[in-house]
Amino acid sequence: EAIEKGGFEHFMLKEIFEQPKSIKDCFRGRLIADEAKLVLGGIRDYATALINAERIVIVACGTSWHAGLVAEYIFEEFCRIPVEVEYASEFRYRNPVIREGDIVFAISQSGETADTLAAMELAKSKGAIVLGVCNVVGSSISRVSHEGVYTHAGPEIGVASTKAFTAQLTVLTMIALKTALRKGTIAEQRYREILVDLENIPKKVEKALKTDEQVKKIAEIYKDARNFLYLGRGYNFPVALEGALKLKEISYIHAEGYPAAEMKHGPIALIDEEMPVVVIATRDSSYDKIVSNIQEVKARKGKVIAVVSEGDSLIPGMVDHTIEVPGTHEVLMPMVSTIPLQLLSYHIAVMRGCNVDQPRNLAKSVTVE
Ligand code: AGP
Repeated sequence: EAIEKGGFEHFMLKEIFEQPKSIKDCFRGRLIADEAKLVLGGIRDYATALINAERIVIVACGTSWHAGLVAEYIFEEFCRIPVEVEYASEFRYRNPVIREGDIVFAISQSGETADTLAAMELAKSKGAIVLGVCNVVGSSISRVSHEGVYTHAGPEIGVASTKAFTAQLTVLTMIALKTALRKGTIAEQRYREILVDLENIPKKVEKALKTDEQVKKIAEIYKDARNFLYLGRGYNFPVALEGALKLKEISYIHAEGYPAAEMKHGPIALIDEEMPVVVIATRDSSYDKIVSNIQEVKARKGKVIAVVSEGDSLIPGMVDHTIEVPGTHEVLMPMVSTIPLQLLSYHIAVMRGCNVDQPRNLAKSVTVE
């Protein structure tokens, strides 16, 4: 086992640090940025159906559901196709409206999640085209899908999903961009620019991993907190949810992820000097708005840990801690901004003496309803 961990103390840490490579593996042979080409053979037969789809439904659970939320924003922005993201467990039990020709994406690391599998079967029985985004080759979900794209992140052993998440984002982004180009809903120049940015993501993730020591110091300060709040807007909203989930599952600290603007509709009441608030505030189209949200938290004496873009000169003066990550196109930002949050949950869990790779009450794949 020590050999399998490759010198890391835990599988989770190894998997976090593998991400520059796993993202590269994910686009190997698929992304040819200098020719502005995306090759996605896995969904070749249904590429046209996707272009013509009137609706996309995404079914998944947990972290994979968070990847689905990011995909919703990307598909709607670039492909102009309405997207609904569903918890597989709710979707399958509520007689959902599915029309012939609807595209249903099932996202799953393990490919064995019972609820996701059942949701796919239901969608198929109603005439939907079901496309899988799976990590485990030959898994049940990959077999039940009409077609699909593997994430190729390599085996993920830690119960807390990390590299599978960034690989899911990579695959879904590639699918959305290719569809948008063929559909004519993205300008070619923009498409090319994003492909170049996508190709550079492994380097940016590498750089984001360099925050490890700094994140560890922050973890030391907040490891005994009883609650955490995570806030983000736009593409960083699902990152906030994912950050909170990571902390909950491995450190057993109660954490909530929220869209930052929703704070004033309830969670703001929780904020006092005891409440650490992680704000993902990288430079994007909602930057000014998230700056105001930070001010709202600070006015109530919350402790703010902000994830910002490199060179941000405003936010560091307003908050308690800043973690700088390299900038990129906003649709790709989740792949980078999620890194310090993975590290934060990891270090807090280790400091609290928790079983990081096998947290209590959790299984790597949830094969029961
Ligand atoms: C993530 O850290 C969790 N352990 C969990 O939410 C997981 O993402 C969920 O069970 C879905 O699993 P899947 O991707 O294998 O379908």
